[in-house]
Amino acid sequence: METEFVPRGMQECIPDYRDIHQVEVPAYTDIEHHTWAQLYANQQRVLPGRACSEFMEGLAQVEFPSEKIPALAQISDRIKANTGWTLTRVDGLVPNYEFFKLLSERIFPSTDFIRRPDEIEYTPSPDMFHDLLGHAPLLLNPRFCAFFEDFGKAGVAAFENPAVNPAARDWLPRIYWFTVEYGLIQNLDGLRIYGAGILSSPKEVLYSLSDGPKKLPFDLDEIANKTYDIWHMQEELFVIESFDQLEDSFYAWAHNHGLLADRRSENRS
Ligand SMILES: [Fe+2]
Repeated sequence: METEFVPRGMQECIPDYRDIHQVEVPAYTDIEHHTWAQLYANQQRVLPGRACSEFMEGLAQVEFPSEKIPALAQISDRIKANTGWTLTRVDGLVPNYEFFKLLSERIFPSTDFIRRPDEIEYTPSPDMFHDLLGHAPLLLNPRFCAFFEDFGKAGVAAFENPAVNPAARDWLPRIYWFTVEYGLIQNLDGLRIYGAGILSSPKEVLYSLSDGPKKLPFDLDEIANKTYDIWHMQEELFVIESFDQLEDSFYAWAHNHGLLADRRSENRS
């Protein structure tokens, strides 16, 4: 019987819950370091003027090495010093419930392996370049982090709270896709990108801001019911006005669906 080949990074895995400083750093080869350097150089060329200002500020603060793969612990420490978030190591896709739980505890899972040299242009499975370059810079932004923590808590409620509509387990991954991975934002100086799926791919960066994909106003009810295709360039993208809008509208939406408690009662307790 033939078994289906699943590329590394696309298999479900349980996170490595050890402190990130206890996790051994893989012995990367020169070729792997070179792959990181090439990917990093490519993105340095395309991100200025296209990635949002909040992402560029985070990128400057993280200070990724340009020639060498960084250790996850080093990046985790830089994030923690700014917002208190940390990284944990994973080997592939984290099941949704575990993923939401991590986010609710202000932990972001990152792989620690890099794609093959022939996958520089495109890889279907997230590797550490996607996880770090794409996601880490916004983990230094307090407004984005507030949304991300709320998102994790809402996800935990979708699994644990029997009063919540079970459809929420489908709505939340779609919201994640159209915000955290493929979101656009209207900065003061123009339309910019904040989604990690776009920012870690040179082709997606250029395509997303071209006339190709349709740009839609941010609407969580619409997004929650919209299916997406992970194998092709995105044809429709949603634009937020600010990270305040993302945080506030997600809170209101999630509260409305019984996924987040009333902030006022939280403050009183
Ligand atoms: Fe991602």
